[in-house]
Amino acid sequence: MIKALRTLWLPALAFTAFAAAAIAQTPAATIKVGEFASLTGKEAAFGQSSHKGTLLAIEELNARGGALGQQFELITEDNQSKQGESATIAKKLISRDKVIALLGEVASGRSLEAAPIAQNAKIPMVSPSSTNPKVTEMGSYIFRVCFIDPLQGRLLAKFAQNTLKAKRVALLTSVSSPYSVGLAKFFKEPFIAQGGEIVIEQRFSENDKDFKAQLTAIKPTKPDAIFVPGYYTEAALICKQARDLGLEIPIFGGDGWEAPQLIEIGGKAVEGTYYTTHYSPESTSPAVQKFVADFRAKFAGETPDAMAALGYDSAMVLADAIKRANTTEGPKVRDALAATKNYSGITGMITIDAKRNATKSAVVVTVKDGQFKFVETIAP
Ligand code: PHE
Repeated sequence: MIKALRTLWLPALAFTAFAAAAIAQTPAATIKVGEFASLTGKEAAFGQSSHKGTLLAIEELNARGGALGQQFELITEDNQSKQGESATIAKKLISRDKVIALLGEVASGRSLEAAPIAQNAKIPMVSPSSTNPKVTEMGSYIFRVCFIDPLQGRLLAKFAQNTLKAKRVALLTSVSSPYSVGLAKFFKEPFIAQGGEIVIEQRFSENDKDFKAQLTAIKPTKPDAIFVPGYYTEAALICKQARDLGLEIPIFGGDGWEAPQLIEIGGKAVEGTYYTTHYSPESTSPAVQKFVADFRAKFAGETPDAMAALGYDSAMVLADAIKRANTTEGPKVRDALAATKNYSGITGMITIDAKRNATKSAVVVTVKDGQFKFVETIAP
């Protein structure tokens, strides 16, 4: 079952009964933007965060008058974190709801499913946070506002060598996730090129719960650290089971680790682990601090994570392109998105390159005393 949430923010209007009747007959035209996200299921933390960020952006945009004399209407669909749902949802949003653009998805695998639909319909799609390079290679209408995994992998290799002083690393990859397979490869290549060694490679699949066999195989190889490119649910369980087996070495991952559940599930076992991500709410930049304050005010004191910030930036970059295009026609909005230059986002400066990606810095985060703590920013 697919649930649709409709969010339409119209300024309060004082009108007469006559005007109200007229409006009822001809509803105000809105700029319909479709969002597809994992609001429930295994990666609900991702979908919920990016949805909240997107919602905040739409609300702010509408308070400032929307665009082209119209308000934005966000139509959100839940893919329940399931494979095989996102293409159907993209079709529905485009043909039934007549959205003029798509925002989504967080996970690369689900962005890859929806991208061909957007491309064929000439409807621009902006992924907030899918980092696998293949996503934007799907076609000229597919964009993202985050860095890509060749960069993230390279920065992780640098981090492993310079900060962790790790020379011998064990790799534990989720073979059923395009994101994980890609990030493993993009870490391995530069890590080996700079003199590192991958002592063992082990595999798992999404939804696996028992990693003892892989960790037992890793233990006698005596690595300096374990790299787990994957999502938070499996990453947290891997850390727990590694500690249970007496593996006390550093474990680190990429942006897929970013969720409060990493700490909720992992507890003490994730203390001292590291991952790279897109932004830190601890940043002292006034724009970040305003975003964090606005987000907390809207969502019961919750601190926005990287997905929330990227969800916000994806909607803002799209709105900026619509304004510059001065139309909602797909090909023209596409061209305006492609021309995005030095857009000052919450997650950094966004310039869309020839491959429709954004080159940005990454942030390293650690877990300390049950909290996420900023470690360093690594420039591209
Ligand atoms: N980058 C991940 C992917 O492409 C998704 C993700 C983004 C996870 C940001 C956490 C934070 O699949």
